Amino acid sequence: MSSTKPHKAVAAVHGPDINKIRADFPILSRKVYGKPLVYLDNAATSQKPASVIKALSEYYEGYNANVHRGVHALSMEATDRYEEARRKVAKFIGARHEESIIWTRGATEAINLVAYTWAQQNIKPGDEIVLTPMEHHSNLVPWQKVAADKGAKIKFFGMTGEQTLDLSNVDEVITPRTKLVAIVHGSNSLGTINPVKELTAKAHAVGATVLVDGAQSVPHMPIDVEDIGCDFLAFSGHKMAGPTGIGALYARPELLQKMEPFMRGGDMVLEVSYESASWNAVPAKFEAGTPNIADAIGLAAAVDYLSAIGMENIRRHEMELTAYALKRFDEIADDVKVFGPRDVRIRGGVVPFHSPDVHPHDLGTFLDREGIAIRTGHHCTMPLIRKLEVPATARASFYLYNTQEEVDILVEALKRALRYFVHGVNRA
Ligand SMILES: Cc1ncc(COP(=O)(O)O)c(C=O)c1O
Repeated sequence: MSSTKPHKAVAAVHGPDINKIRADFPILSRKVYGKPLVYLDNAATSQKPASVIKALSEYYEGYNANVHRGVHALSMEATDRYEEARRKVAKFIGARHEESIIWTRGATEAINLVAYTWAQQNIKPGDEIVLTPMEHHSNLVPWQKVAADKGAKIKFFGMTGEQTLDLSNVDEVITPRTKLVAIVHGSNSLGTINPVKELTAKAHAVGATVLVDGAQSVPHMPIDVEDIGCDFLAFSGHKMAGPTGIGALYARPELLQKMEPFMRGGDMVLEVSYESASWNAVPAKFEAGTPNIADAIGLAAAVDYLSAIGMENIRRHEMELTAYALKRFDEIADDVKVFGPRDVRIRGGVVPFHSPDVHPHDLGTFLDREGIAIRTGHHCTMPLIRKLEVPATARASFYLYNTQEEVDILVEALKRALRYFVHGVNRA
């Protein structure tokens, strides 16, 4: 790995200087195939600032111990930091109670927790589960299983030509038969930001429960679960500058009280006999076994980092970058179709695109040789990709450290790729 100068800042994150932000992320100074890394695969996973990496090594070097068990100093220190992390994450999403945060491996596990507990207890034959057509597999496949097990029906909203939700018939989709509305907040495949607050109000008006998949919104914009009003929110640490293997389920405490545990074992029990067991208080009831202590503490360091920059600033930066990218993509509109809404107020920093003449995998491979990391494929939204009538898409996705200069590098490399693949010209 060799280092190179950070890209010249063309767009600054409002507040702190973007070059300073880039310098916080050690990986951004490496080269790939001799070219400066242009990392535009943030919807898959984000890079980590030095403070997060340091928090992990400080834990292992300084106070590694199991939590909630020991009377010794290290265990108490680890427990304090682990529970402090829960408080920080709760505050970050506007949750009033720290017990509302259940640690999971990520958004997928958080959604499955609800599917295997709340849904098993509450979904009955004939009930309806309402989803959007843009759900990640992790917010679709668990509900298919619930529907099959319980004899419930899954219903989908329609989609407009700009790939936003078609809510013209919302009262026909969300009805008194609706038991659960499970909606992605920010689509990882389109960029579309869905009106989760309005849909939560609609769902609550018919007595339905609401789960929001915040995997692509919590990392990128201010989130206030009290304002949204949702009952559950799922998200992943690795997409928000935190470590892999840690995420959270936010749930309203009243729901958690009534829900059965997801997994059973140590730490989640109050009393155990050879015949039976009773459960510990929330959140311990949902956290069987030794938890992911280091990564929860690492996620808290990420929350500190993002909060210091300011989520409003991050959102504004990504809106500007996305607007700039959409404008630059207009230059290749004859060869490349961009999906998702044009209005960046209802769009995250995700730019999915497709050229009918080049398979996205070829584009991705070409860009990789230029040091540019994007994602190609179905992005874990196979039914959506089929609906878009393309075999796959290529996707550039931004985060707080990306610059307009990187967008320029992407678009210029794409122009070269199109000349090469579409027009048969093998030169710059
Ligand atoms: C919208 C959305 N939901 C859920 C997930 C699942 O997240 P994880 O794989 O971290 O559990 C992802 C990951 O890409 C996502 O983009």
